[in-house]
Amino acid sequence: MNVHGIPYKTIWLKQDDPCTVMIIDQRKLPHQFIVEEIRSLEQMKLAIKDMHLRGAGLIGAAAAYGIYLATLEIKDFTNFQDEFRKAAEVLKMTRPTAVNLAWAVDQQLDALNNASNIEELQSIALKTATAIADEDAENCKKIGEHGLPLIEKISRQKNGTTVNILTHCNAGWLAFVDHGTATSPIYAAHEKGIDVHVWVDETRPRNQGASLTAWELGMHGVPHTIITDNTGGHLMQHGMVDMVIVGSDRTTSTGDVANKIGTYLKALAAKDNNIPFYAAVPMSSFDWQIEDGISQIEIEERDPEEVAFIEGLCEGEIKRVQLTPAGSPAKNFGFDVTPARLITGIITERGICEANKKSILEVFPEKR
Ligand code: MRU
Repeated sequence: MNVHGIPYKTIWLKQDDPCTVMIIDQRKLPHQFIVEEIRSLEQMKLAIKDMHLRGAGLIGAAAAYGIYLATLEIKDFTNFQDEFRKAAEVLKMTRPTAVNLAWAVDQQLDALNNASNIEELQSIALKTATAIADEDAENCKKIGEHGLPLIEKISRQKNGTTVNILTHCNAGWLAFVDHGTATSPIYAAHEKGIDVHVWVDETRPRNQGASLTAWELGMHGVPHTIITDNTGGHLMQHGMVDMVIVGSDRTTSTGDVANKIGTYLKALAAKDNNIPFYAAVPMSSFDWQIEDGISQIEIEERDPEEVAFIEGLCEGEIKRVQLTPAGSPAKNFGFDVTPARLITGIITERGICEANKKSILEVFPEKR
């Protein structure tokens, strides 16, 4: 997608230096666009944990590139498997909720089993990381193609007047390798000339909506308005939201969707107001092992300082200020689970299904 008119992906290999992976440091957006060089698994681990990059699809691709970087450091081929298994477990725990991370790490480990020397190890790791990243971008694009008719239908019903879509957090191209999931149908509609407008939930505490979704929509000229996290229900009651599209960090085989904290409340409000609520989910974000999202999905708890402090631009500099009384405790759950019964449909790279096991398995029959 475009940044000041120049097409970017969120992760790529440095030109002329295949030992360096390039990422956008998302902590600095929307105020500064900084590209960061990552040269080791340790650096990649830190970038994932401290959210230089984030978003389900992107952390999967980043982990795969992280393992590739680790293969470049290997001196002794004989016990690489033990070392990698240990490193993989640590890597998976950096962000435990988004299943893409574990999925991508396992894909890499499986592929690396076929190597018989260090050179092969490195070339297989690079090939696998590239394939994971390319597939992520391609699947997101397809999610856009499948989701587009939903927006077109509402636009027709409204005689071409504005289709208002509410989204939460950032399930845009910054959260994946390209296109995004929740935003992909929106970009497709915008490109087709459909009049779309996006209500962007700010998404406390890290404000991925206010700082990332708003920024990327703005870069593409998609009309949008940032709202506080508490506003969606009011807008829905007053006919100002036509549909909700969110992403997912982990979706069960029965259609429960774990997504950024606050998503569940939007789904409740949408249900109460009879507004279609869609989750856009690539196959890599399904967890086929579990059926009950509320009891089985591990919810990442992050540093309470993310609640107590806020960062922003002050006289040209990024500053961090405290919001809360010194000494008041804070709690910071990163995600919540929206039960399948509140979800109108799941937009996947293979088409749209209902949020239930039967319908999901019709789209992904190989998971039966
Ligand atoms: O904590 P983050 O920013 O990595 O959160 C993940 C997300 O981007 C959202 O939950 C998103 O809506 C899911 S789709 C990437």
